[in-house]
Order: sequence, then C-alpha cells, then structure tokens
Amino acid sequence: MDGVAERLLRIDWDFSDVNGSNGIHGVHPYPAKFIPDIPANLIDNLPIPKGTAIFDPFCGSGVTLVEAQRRGIPSIGIDLNPIACLISKVKTSNLPDNYMEIVNSCILHAQTNKEFTIPKIPNLDHWYKKPIQKSIAPLLHEIRRYKDPKLRDFLMLGLSSILVRISNQESNTRYAAVNNTVQGIDVYNYFQAACRNIALKVPKTETKLAYVNILNQDILETRADQIKYPIGALITSPPYPNAYEYWLYHKYRMWWLGYDPLEVKKKEIGARAHFFKKNPHTKNSFSEQMRGMFGLVHKILIPKGYACFVIGRSIIKGEKIDNGKIIIDTAREYGLKHILTISRNINHKRKSFNLSHAKINKEEIVILQKG
Ligand SMILES: C[S@@+](CC[C@H](N)C(=O)[O-])C[C@H]1O[C@@H](n2cnc3c(N)ncnc32)[C@H](O)[C@@H]1O
Repeated sequence: MDGVAERLLRIDWDFSDVNGSNGIHGVHPYPAKFIPDIPANLIDNLPIPKGTAIFDPFCGSGVTLVEAQRRGIPSIGIDLNPIACLISKVKTSNLPDNYMEIVNSCILHAQTNKEFTIPKIPNLDHWYKKPIQKSIAPLLHEIRRYKDPKLRDFLMLGLSSILVRISNQESNTRYAAVNNTVQGIDVYNYFQAACRNIALKVPKTETKLAYVNILNQDILETRADQIKYPIGALITSPPYPNAYEYWLYHKYRMWWLGYDPLEVKKKEIGARAHFFKKNPHTKNSFSEQMRGMFGLVHKILIPKGYACFVIGRSIIKGEKIDNGKIIIDTAREYGLKHILTISRNINHKRKSFNLSHAKINKEEIVILQKG
C-alpha cells in the first residue's frame, strides 16, 4: 500500500472559498477550467517518480501544466482547441524580452497602417462593428510581422483575450447580440491592458522553468512516440458528452486568429452539436472515444502510475449518463484499475458558464492505477 487513497480522502475537495480566475489563470477566459487546487493536491499526493512527466490529454487552459511547472515537474498537454494551446503555452513560458515595448510599437503602427485587409469571417458585421474591425485587422497585421513564435503567441493571447469584450456578443457565456458602445480606439487600450496583465502574471524572463510540451491536436490521433517522457501520472478533466462547446465559446477568436472553428467542432469530443445531428453521437460514442484515449495512455503511463479524471455526469436526450462509470469501465479494458472515486460539490458562484441544461452541481474525481 502506498497510502495514496488515504491521503486523498483526507482532503476537502470542495475548495469553496478559492477563486480560480485569480493570478495567472485569469489572463484569458476558458470554460470549465480546473480550480488550481484540484491538480495541485493531486500532484502533491501522488507518487511521481523523478524522470517522469505529468500528462493532461485535455489540457484546456493549462491549469495542470502550470501546477506541475510550479513544482519543477515536467509536463505534457494536448488539446484540440488552438486557443487552449495558445493560453497554455503563454502561461508556461517566460515573458519575452521587451514585451511591453513591442506591444506599444504594435499599437503605434496599427494606428497609422492603412494597408490592412479584414479577413473573410462569416457574419462578421453582426458581431463586430466596422470601426472595431478596422482596429483589429491592422493590429493582427502588426502582430504577424513578428516571426518569433513565442513572442507572437504572447501578442496573440493579448488580442484573443479582448475579442469578446470588443464584440457585440453579450458576454463570454451568452451568445446574444447587444449594441456594444466600444470605440475603435478602445481596442488598442484594451489590448495594451490585457498584455500588461499577461506580463505581470507569467513567469519572469529569467526564471528557470520545468519542461512543458503542448501539442495542438486530437487526442485520438496522438501517437505514443510523440510523448517524449515516460508518464508518471495523468491528471485531466475530459470533455463531457453533450455538455460544453469549447469550439463555440472560442469561435470568433479562432476566426480572427486564422483557425477554422468548424474543423475543431468536427473532432471535439462531447460537443452538443454532435448529439443533435443526423446519426447523432450517443453515450457509446463517448465510450469509444475514451477507449481511443486509454489505448494511448496504457502505452505511456508507467507501471503503478496513477490516472485521475475529474468528470461530471451529463444528460443525453433525457437519460442521465454516469461518465465516471464509463471512464472506469473503459480503463479496465486497458489494465487500469479503479482505486477510488471522490465526489465534490461545484461552487456555482465560480461556474464559468451556464450548465443548467445538464443540472451539474457535483462532479467526481476518479482515481485509477495501472497494474
Ligand atoms: C474540461 S476541458 C479541460 C479544461 C482544463 N482542465 C483547464 O483547466 O482549462 C476539456 C478540453 O478537452 C478538449 N477536447 C475536446 N475534444 C478533444 C479531442 N478530440 N482531443 C483533444 N482535446 C479535446 C477541449 O478543447 C477542452 O479544452
């Protein structure tokens, strides 16, 4: 006995007074992100042998990766959504040299640039007023002039973080159109403030950082040889069937930044749209997708390594789906045994968007171990 179950059972997993949007995790909105205390407490209580890495196959905004990095432990994250990967990369990178000078230079040049083109984006005029479009497009043009991928990511993240606020969309979590009174010039002020916030929160230029690798791809197309470390522990919150739509949440961010959200939608596990189309997905589709993931995990996780899944239930066509059980059952097929399940209350004040359709107020932390 390694005492892991006993240690985990001693923790109060509700974390009712913690605000997950503070600090570095507040640099960009992301739906259903982890409260940092969840991966933090898992990392601190699992045996993670030296020379192994922590793996998050659905890393989203990179909360697990940040917590691993804070403890000097290497980590690897995968996410299908390019905005997720952008956020994760910036949060786990050192601040580029002269970042704010470059931000200010981008703004200065964007204000005088007359040669920009506005990208062709469906329904753009509905969601963005013309003066706003005419401020975003030259800013993007300036950002793209920087060829250093890290610097470009830092600039793109600043822009991405303000794209809903300067649109006609009511809020990050409500898709109704409203009459936004933001002016073209405000785009530059908001961009500057967002970048300043990023600069304050990310690791300083000179900080020595643990290895983090983030792959922007479908977990079901990920090969074991792409994971460059033996995996000591897996910590993740997978997408729930018929619950969230990460692609929709970031749809206009992806359009503006040059990605195709409709391609992301096609491969997004659990996206609600897949449950309403012709030949709809079912709970069996989710089992099949989890099989695909465990097919990879059983190859890369070390013997006796732990895998932790934070997951809620969902409702498909009126039927309650016990996603934790689906995880446990499919994991067993790949040699991972169920150690324990912890139930936790979700603090609704901190909910990142409306989950009423799924009536989710509890979620489970499913702890598995490879034999
Ligand atoms: C619950 S969220 C993860 C949130 C993350 N724990 C955080 O703290 O931000 C689930 C993630 O799974 C990703 N996802 C959905 N389908 C995927 C797929 N086929 N391959 C990889 N990632 C996928 C979504 O883009 C989303 O970011």
